[in-house]
Amino acid sequence: MTFKMERETVKNIALIGFMGTGKSAVSRFLKERCGYQEIDVDQRIVQMEGMPIAEIFRIQGEEYFRDLESRVIAGIRGENLVIPCGGGAVLRKENVENLKKISRIVLLLATPKTVLGRIRHSSDRPLLKGKMDAGHIAELMEKRRALYEEAADLAVVTDGKTVGEVSREIVERAGL
Ligand code: S3P
Repeated sequence: MTFKMERETVKNIALIGFMGTGKSAVSRFLKERCGYQEIDVDQRIVQMEGMPIAEIFRIQGEEYFRDLESRVIAGIRGENLVIPCGGGAVLRKENVENLKKISRIVLLLATPKTVLGRIRHSSDRPLLKGKMDAGHIAELMEKRRALYEEAADLAVVTDGKTVGEVSREIVERAGL
């Protein structure tokens, strides 16, 4: 995937991709090493609600969470931002449209096996609760594949790479 010319001037970077593809870790790296300001969409939601993501899903349900997610994304303004998004941010077209207005969208990719290895001990992934296995991850990933690919300006494979390697690849390929 290559950037369209007019999008090369947009310096904000939104990170999308399935759970466990390294969005938060890469974001932290870009923030610390490149001086980006971080707007973590899930973190904002947790702050707004005063409870972890899993609790929001359990008490209020997924739609409520998705509404907050859309509201946070729609409200993002600024420059030199790195914006790690929750894995489901691409499910709503309006989120992708809003992200595109303010950022270039970088898709992080990983195989179901890699994802499972990274998040198998996580208890804050409500969509994988009781179904933390490679088969279920592969199924959900496949359902979303086209949405991720359509949204992305640039895709980076993360399997077998360190956070630093992935981040440097983004810096280089996006010309940051
Ligand atoms: C979700 C991914 C999570 C979080 C929520 C829903 C998803 O974020 O937003 O649990 O639908 O894929 P991460 O991708 O950071 O785990």
